[in-house]
Amino acid sequence: MTIAIDYLANHPQWLPILAEWTYSEWGKFDSNNSLQATIKRYEDRLNKDHIPLMLVAYSDSHPVGCVSLKETGMTIRPDYTPWLGSMYVNPKERRKGIGSQLMQRAIAESKKLLVPTLYLWTALAEGFYLKYGFNTIESTRYLDQDTKIMALHISRE
Ligand SMILES: CC(C)(COP(=O)(O)OP(=O)(O)OC[C@H]1O[C@@H](n2cnc3c(N)ncnc32)[C@H](O)[C@@H]1OP(=O)(O)O)[C@@H](O)C(=O)NCCC(=O)NCCS
Repeated sequence: MTIAIDYLANHPQWLPILAEWTYSEWGKFDSNNSLQATIKRYEDRLNKDHIPLMLVAYSDSHPVGCVSLKETGMTIRPDYTPWLGSMYVNPKERRKGIGSQLMQRAIAESKKLLVPTLYLWTALAEGFYLKYGFNTIESTRYLDQDTKIMALHISRE
């Protein structure tokens, strides 16, 4: 299966399905969130040259995953910016290297946009992000979950 990664801005027709997938995965953790609010946030990410932006992985004209770069992440850590989020691969397509391709492109985009440090938080996938050079900088309770805050310093070279 050949996978391509592109800006969601070039494929806005896939925004609703990506919002449905990610809202099904995480929506239940935040009572202030909704599918409509998720769609609105993703509409704000239809950019190619500045954050917030969203990347989509696709194959044969079907989306299979996504990742975002966004200004805000955890409300309890407003000083940290920008954040990587919405990292998601369709369950049928996992463990085929698609998450890895999304991560590599997200890091390349961060470098292009001169991001010094990229942050993320995760409840379940710390081991995944360690593979891409992120360090765990804090363990904290957030949205009723035990979470890790992770950071990646992005080299300019
Ligand atoms: C996490 C996720 C994005 C990984 O996507 P994927 O396409 O299956 O990942 P890849 O196939 O590219 O895997 C890359 C590497 O990470 C490892 N990996 C995959 N998922 C992992 C996880 N949840 N925890 C730890 N390591 C993981 C793989 O084994 C692989 O390792 P290898 O290179 O040594 O073989 C995907 O499982 C997913 O969408 N999960 C649900 C949503 C989620 O948890 N998102 C991140 C939380 S913030």
